[in-house]
Amino acid sequence: MEFRTALITGASSGIGLELARIHASKGGDVVLVARSRDKLEAIKRELQAQHGVKTYVIAEDLADPGAADRVFRATESLGLSIDVLINNAGFGGHGKFVERDLGADQAMMQVNMAALTSLTHHYLKGMVDRRRGRILNVSSTASFMPGPLQAVYYATKAYVTSFTQAIAEEVREYGVTATVLCPGAVATGFVAAGDLQGVDVWKNARTAESVAQCGYQAMERGELVAFNECKLRVMLDWIVPLLPRRTVLKVSRQAMEKTS
Ligand SMILES: NC(=O)c1ccc[n+]([C@@H]2O[C@H](COP(=O)([O-])OP(=O)(O)OC[C@H]3O[C@@H](n4cnc5c(N)ncnc54)[C@H](OP(=O)(O)O)[C@@H]3O)[C@@H](O)[C@H]2O)c1
Repeated sequence: MEFRTALITGASSGIGLELARIHASKGGDVVLVARSRDKLEAIKRELQAQHGVKTYVIAEDLADPGAADRVFRATESLGLSIDVLINNAGFGGHGKFVERDLGADQAMMQVNMAALTSLTHHYLKGMVDRRRGRILNVSSTASFMPGPLQAVYYATKAYVTSFTQAIAEEVREYGVTATVLCPGAVATGFVAAGDLQGVDVWKNARTAESVAQCGYQAMERGELVAFNECKLRVMLDWIVPLLPRRTVLKVSRQAMEKTS
């Protein structure tokens, strides 16, 4: 296989777990990163038994500002050369910004943006030196508009989509690609973790498996931006930019209101 070892953050559940399964099913080794060591150890056993690949577990809380550096040092001391970096760990949180716990939003910014940026910086250097590598950053359709009732989450994802496209352009000449995956609603632990139960958009949520397939294939092809739902691409790329800002804010807020 061309791209042997993948490091995947948020690999203990949802989209990240499915991405780990896809990479392992192709014969690639995986480094699994998340907080839940027990879940990661169980996934390690599953991937080793089913696909015979080398699997490593690094249990870290990426909300800790030193965690990304520790992850990098751990893979260095294991002598691993990371060909594929998948920054997938992330979470949201419902409610008016002024009423939310500031610490929770600061942790969200650390995981969704700062850890992703540090890991990209660490591993991109080796990829550029080797003239090969793939980065997949998991963003969201939320990245294309402001999000009342999830203000910080939407803003963190706007950062991820912008940052990923910019570095993709910078590293293209070295044969390294960066892809940003922008899913709509997906049925995962994200809903409970972000207190989003009762928000209607998750009634039509897609499966984590289908979203992971879409993202992994886009990453293999070196695409810039990947949407798993065509109608969302049309809406966000072509319709939303033409609408008055107040209209976008109103519709965006309505989408995040709890109805039950
Ligand atoms: N579900 C959706 O509707 C949706 C839509 C668009 C984009 N996304 C994005 O998709 C990505 C994956 O989310 P998901 O939907 O698969 O949700 P999920 O099932 O809740 O998975 C989130 C993953 O991130 C890890 N994580 C969370 N906080 C962490 C921390 N502080 N340190 C290390 N790891 C942490 C979790 O592991 P531990 O709890 O074990 O740490 C878990 O493996 C996120 O970036 C999310 O923003 C989701």
